Amino acid sequence: MSGAIKSQIRELLKKQNAVLLAHNYMRDDVQEIADITGDSLALSIEAAKTDADIIVFCGVHFMAESAAILSPAKRVLLPRADAGCPMADMVTVEELEVLKRQYPGVPVVTYVNSSAEVKAHSDICCTSANALKVVRSLAENELIFVPDRNLGRWIAKFVPEKKFIFWEGFCPTHERMTVSAVLQKKVEHPDALFICHPESAPEVSALADHVCSTTGMYDYCRTSKATKFIIGTEAGILYKLRLENPSKEFILASPALFCPNMKLTSLEDVFISLQTMTPIVTVPEDIRIKAKGALDRMLAVPRD
Ligand code: 13P
Ligand code: SF4
Repeated sequence: MSGAIKSQIRELLKKQNAVLLAHNYMRDDVQEIADITGDSLALSIEAAKTDADIIVFCGVHFMAESAAILSPAKRVLLPRADAGCPMADMVTVEELEVLKRQYPGVPVVTYVNSSAEVKAHSDICCTSANALKVVRSLAENELIFVPDRNLGRWIAKFVPEKKFIFWEGFCPTHERMTVSAVLQKKVEHPDALFICHPESAPEVSALADHVCSTTGMYDYCRTSKATKFIIGTEAGILYKLRLENPSKEFILASPALFCPNMKLTSLEDVFISLQTMTPIVTVPEDIRIKAKGALDRMLAVPRD
């Protein structure tokens, strides 16, 4: 059954001149048939580069929006319209504008896990991979960091000269990873390194041998001499980690590391989406232009 649906999806993709993108947290079988897997921003950048007419984005709503912002001429499909991100929903434009009025002239740095509208009201975006470089690129010594309090506090430690005004948003999936769960895995696997995502709670990040983005985790585990890793991020990342490192062992830090939204999209959903050409994700042009400004400013920050 699964083999048949996979080949039907591949046929439809070809017929529609569509590209299938899957975030690193997607179900294994969805990652397996994707043209490109990666983190949220890398996927949108790749999508903009392809000559496909249609982008099928297996991820959550804000990611499909980013693809629509960067690729206005392409049709962007999100197979599950109900796949959202609770962290992105923790800040609205109205709330952000209240804070901006309290701190006039202070730049707003917004994590890509946010709505297009919030991006449009921000000065610059960042990802977990480039947040530190983005903050360092600012001339100002004060900034508003939206919406992830954990990513914000993690990078603030490396720039003591900058004053951060934090938004108290968070990723419920990463915050479900407790200190006691991690300590238990460390006791069970004393020879393993613990690696976690900066969306984790500060007391969990404090236990880590390395804190990095999902893309950073692939690089770190591939190049590290260590052979055993306790992984502190959403379980979907294990698929490619194990595929790329067959001789290494990967242990999920907590059984709670499943994002219900990231697990919604099935092969059947992808198939139906390609057949019906729905649900389409669009961003109103005035918002798209402003949001693109914040994304473009981030993309202009040198990576090294
Ligand atoms: P990245 O791979 O973009 O860092 O994703 C983290 C995340 O939580 C996406 O929802
Ligand atoms: Fe949002 Fe966290 Fe799920 Fe990512 S893992 S989509 S940040 S809730």
